[in-house]
Amino acid sequence: MKPAKLHYWILGCFSMALCCWCTSDKFHQSDSHPHTWKKLYLAHHWPVTVCKQTANDCQDPPEYWTIHGLWPDKSEECNRTWHFNVTEIKDLMPDMRRYWPDVIHSSLNRTHFWKHEWEKHGTCAATLEVLNSQKKYFGKTLELYQHVNLNGYLQKAGIKPSSTYYQMTAIKEGLTKFYGVTPKIQCLPPEEGEKAQTIGQIEFCFTKELQLRNCTEPKGESSRLQTDLQLGSRELSVCSDTLPVYYPSQVQHRK
Ligand SMILES: *[C@@H]1O[C@H](CO)[C@@H](O)[C@H](O)[C@H]1NC(C)=O
Ligand SMILES: *[C@@H]1O[C@H](CO)[C@@H](O)[C@H](O)[C@H]1NC(C)=O
Ligand SMILES: *[C@@H]1O[C@H](CO)[C@@H](O)[C@H](O)[C@H]1NC(C)=O
Ligand SMILES: *[C@@H]1O[C@H](CO)[C@@H](O)[C@H](O)[C@H]1NC(C)=O
Repeated sequence: MKPAKLHYWILGCFSMALCCWCTSDKFHQSDSHPHTWKKLYLAHHWPVTVCKQTANDCQDPPEYWTIHGLWPDKSEECNRTWHFNVTEIKDLMPDMRRYWPDVIHSSLNRTHFWKHEWEKHGTCAATLEVLNSQKKYFGKTLELYQHVNLNGYLQKAGIKPSSTYYQMTAIKEGLTKFYGVTPKIQCLPPEEGEKAQTIGQIEFCFTKELQLRNCTEPKGESSRLQTDLQLGSRELSVCSDTLPVYYPSQVQHRK
């Protein structure tokens, strides 16, 4: 058991003990199991930023937001014996290649990224009946991505890649108003000598019924950091509301 898992396990036991005092029938679905989760993050990433973030062989990253993953909070690698099998998603291949590409390893075998996502996150999401196979997990993620249609919204709202800055609050408030829920927006912090952060990831949260919900927790409960792409030197973190933000296009060469 890794320390993080142990932590949740202990936390789970503790909340179960506490729950003996409460009258709620939530007792039976308490967090006592280490693989219990409450919400899903549908993470979109901006391929141009992903490429900036890592020293790699990206070439011509797509200029639309692509899928990073569909992640249950608070759990990872829930079933290490449930291996990825690309044959099971062969019907989804055209959409997978287009909307869920492996941005940073575009010249390598693209199935590695999907394998990683399935084994780390999909095996946990699979506790839901609508996500309990590889075909359902990848297929439903593509469906949610189409449903959210982030690219369509941004285009309509006139938020386009640009060499000038945006105000972070303008992007955040626009999204929140349009979708009716608060997303989680992640940026690369400013490089030395720069004043702007760079937008990299936009995550929408879903309930177990696959309804959009706020990514923020109403009770002030903190959610675990999602750090998935740590291959390079720079990491994403929640964008600052006060710094201006870059939304880079690939033809830009700053500095
Ligand atoms: C893990 O996955 C394997 C292969 O699909 C399955 O047979 C097994 O029941 C799963 N284990 C759990 C605990 O879900
Ligand atoms: C992969 O999935 C295909 C289609 O479901 C199946 O025929 C094949 O046996 C699976 N391969 C492995 C190694 O499980
Ligand atoms: C990619 O990797 C999978 C296994 O992960 C393998 O079945 C497939 O043949 C590989 N494809 C290429 C083009 O190397
Ligand atoms: C999301 O949070 C906002 C306040 O930040 C609240 O007004 C709204 O009702 C919440 N929406 C949902 C679906 O919980």
